[in-house]
Amino acid sequence: MTDRATLIIDGKEYHFPIITGSEGERGIDITRLRAQTGCVTLDPGLGNTGACTSEVTYIDGENGILRYRGIPIEQFAKGPNFIEVAWLLIFGKLPTPDEYEGFSWRLTNSAHLHEGMRHVYQAFPPNAPPMAALSAMFNVLSCYHPDIMGLEDDEVFSEAAARLISKVRTIAAYIYRFQLGLPVMYPDPDLSYCANLLHMMFSWPGKSYPIDDEVIEALNLIFILHADHEQNCSTSTVRVVGSSQANLFTSLAAGVSALWGPLHGGANVAVMDMLEGIRVGGLSIEQCVEKAKDKSDPFRLMGFGHRVYKNYDPRAKVLRNVCNRLLAKLKISDPLLDIARKLEDVALEDSYFVDRGLYPNVDFYSGIIMRALGIPTNMFTVMFAIGRLPGWIAHWREQHLRKGRIFRPRQVYTGPRETPYEAPAERSGFHEALG
Ligand code: SDX
Repeated sequence: MTDRATLIIDGKEYHFPIITGSEGERGIDITRLRAQTGCVTLDPGLGNTGACTSEVTYIDGENGILRYRGIPIEQFAKGPNFIEVAWLLIFGKLPTPDEYEGFSWRLTNSAHLHEGMRHVYQAFPPNAPPMAALSAMFNVLSCYHPDIMGLEDDEVFSEAAARLISKVRTIAAYIYRFQLGLPVMYPDPDLSYCANLLHMMFSWPGKSYPIDDEVIEALNLIFILHADHEQNCSTSTVRVVGSSQANLFTSLAAGVSALWGPLHGGANVAVMDMLEGIRVGGLSIEQCVEKAKDKSDPFRLMGFGHRVYKNYDPRAKVLRNVCNRLLAKLKISDPLLDIARKLEDVALEDSYFVDRGLYPNVDFYSGIIMRALGIPTNMFTVMFAIGRLPGWIAHWREQHLRKGRIFRPRQVYTGPRETPYEAPAERSGFHEALG
């Protein structure tokens, strides 16, 4: 295979190196393109553009493969907990027992929020969107932790990563409690990562939330499966903001904002709205599928399709099994699960979806599981953010360590040519407007 690409522009040849990744992916290195040819590339949505090389996560969309630091995600279905996977993503290898114990100790001892942060919660209206509050609270958190803004060495960085991964639970739980006007529940140092989150959300003073191992295992797996996904919209946002040497906290706040969109992390909410719409009799499953195929209709089949996967999202496969197992264990019969299964069957029999490689993605079943865990729909994307935090941190760190260049894409300008300024009186319609 050749290790260079040749472009011919106006009869002149230009050569660019081709780099090959560890899984055989090839990228044409156009770092010198504009300097050599005067041209830039145009790739709206960046679907064909590699913004960086990365060692964190590998996706093979055609074959439905997803690996964290080389480990297939299917191998996490029965085994490690979310914190072990977070360490793997951030530091590049599975933690030794000492590393794991040390990181867990940091997480346990940094779960509390400064009491001053409660005043910020009191300023939010009860109907404040949880993702708006989450994004804001990452920047508020940085005001209380100036000691870990520099991240000049690994020790400071490890402390920052631990505090953020630990406190994001407390921030999320407080968002939930304040929106309902409930007393906040402080973190319990004797509980595991996921159990502590559910405790802070659902316990009552004097009546602790009953910990069910199957529930904890399901939430642990949801966080693991959401932990990273290479250069997705929100992770790319974290890298873009971090590339200006903005601090980690505010880079994460930007990631939360990007994740909020219904085409991205907000899809888990949109899936539930869609399924509920079918349940209450708005649309039949067949009508929903036809509407999604209708180009004149902006409606899309939420939870279906993916920029990279043109096969079944491997996470959706695992989550579909978790869905079936958990609802059976909890003896929950959720009509939305029955509708989701039928919708999947109908869509995957339809050439429109099959021909375009549109399969269920991570968001199609995750909402049904979170609903079974008692998590309200408006907190689903917050849960996605908790899961994605280690991936955002891992990519921010990878770029920070490489001292990457600030992101500053080019464009092809298609606006007006040089135009003189016109004083108001000279502008057409000015006198008519004066009557
Ligand atoms: C996540 O990037 C990531 O890794 C994201 C994520 C992560 O872990 O970070 O995996 C998480 O965001 C999952 C995706 C959640 N979003 C949704 O479920 C929303 C519904 N899906 C679509 O909006 C869409 O599939 C996207 C946004 C996910 C992907 O959009 P693309 O890659 O820009 O695809 P496209 O718009 O170019 O679609 C290609 C074709 C088009 O039809 P044609 O022009 O070829 O006729 O497929 C059609 C689209 O109209 N299409 C759909 C569809 N998704 C794509 N048609 C109906 N329903 C859909 N859901």
